[in-house]
Amino acid sequence: MVKPKVLVTRRWPAAVEAQLSESFDTVLNTSDKPLGPEDFRAALSSCDAVLPTVTDSIGGEAMQMKSVQTRIIANYGVGYTHIDIAAANDLGITVTNTPDVLSECTADLAMTLLLMVARRAGEGEREIREGRWTGWRPTHLVGTKVSGKTLGIIGFGRIGQEVARRAHHGFGMKIVVQNRSKVAPEVLAQCNATQVDDIETLMPLCDFVSLHCPGGAENRNMINSARLELMKPDAFLINTARGEVIDELALSQALWFNTIGGAALDVFVGEPRINPALLDCDRLVMLPHLGSATHESREAMGFRVIDNLRDFFEGREPRDRVN
Ligand code: DGY
Repeated sequence: MVKPKVLVTRRWPAAVEAQLSESFDTVLNTSDKPLGPEDFRAALSSCDAVLPTVTDSIGGEAMQMKSVQTRIIANYGVGYTHIDIAAANDLGITVTNTPDVLSECTADLAMTLLLMVARRAGEGEREIREGRWTGWRPTHLVGTKVSGKTLGIIGFGRIGQEVARRAHHGFGMKIVVQNRSKVAPEVLAQCNATQVDDIETLMPLCDFVSLHCPGGAENRNMINSARLELMKPDAFLINTARGEVIDELALSQALWFNTIGGAALDVFVGEPRINPALLDCDRLVMLPHLGSATHESREAMGFRVIDNLRDFFEGREPRDRVN
C-alpha cells in the first residue's frame, strides 16, 4: 500500500517523528520556522494530511482553493482556532486535535503561574539575577497567601477541572466555576465547586481567576476593562488559554492603575510578539506558551496525532474529530 503523504509543520519529539515515518511518507519542515499561506496551499494540493500546530494559521488565503489533495488536518495541540473549520468543511477535510494528553501538564503550569504571581516569584528571580537583592527583611517582596482563597475558573473543560482538583485538594481553595453549559453536579462535587451563571457574577467573588475557555472570535476580549473592574483590587488573573481572550491594553491599564493585584500569562495576542504595554508591568508574570511543554505531554500529543491518522486512513472514525 502507498503510504499517505503527510506534512509536519514543525519539529516534533524524535520518538514521535520516528514512529510517524514508519507508517507515513513524512515531509518535515527541517527549518522549524512557521510556514506561510503559500506553503499551506502547496501542502493542501500535494499532501494527504497536514499536521499543524498553534503557530500555523490555516484559513483565509491559505484555504481559498476549489479542491485539495488533503483529506485530514490533524492538529498537534488541543486548541484549533488557528484552523478555519468552515473552510475545512467546504473542502471536505476532516480536522482532529489532541485533547486529554496535555490537560494535567497545562493545569500544572496554571498553578505554577498562580503561585508565581501570588508569591512574587518572578520579581524575586529578577532581583537576584540583576544583583539587586540586599538580604532578608520582614517587608521584602511580601506576597499573598494562596491556601484557602477563592479561585474562579472560566471554562470548566478538562484543563479547568484539572486546575480545580489541584487548587481544591492541594491548596484548600474554594472553587467557583463559569462555563457556557451547565456542569454535571457530580463533576462540581469532586471539588466542592459552585457554578455561577456569568462572568459578572464570578469576578467579584474571587481572589484568583484562571481562564480555560477556547480562543477564537467567540471569546475575543472576553476579559475587557468592564470585567476587570469587577475583580477585587487584590485579585490575580491567570491565562493559559489563548491570548485573544484578554484585552491586553485593558489588562495593562488595570495593572498600571493597581485596580487588580497582578496577572500571569502564558499566552499572548500575536505571540511571540508581546504588546509593549505589558512589558513595563511589574506585577505581571509572563511565560512563553509553555502549557503543554513537558516531554511526556509533547510525546503523547504526537502519538495521539498518529492514532488519529491511522484511524482515518484505515477507514475508522478518528476519536478526536472536531468537525
Ligand atoms: C494547545 O494544545 O492548544 C497548546 O496551547 C499548544 O498548541
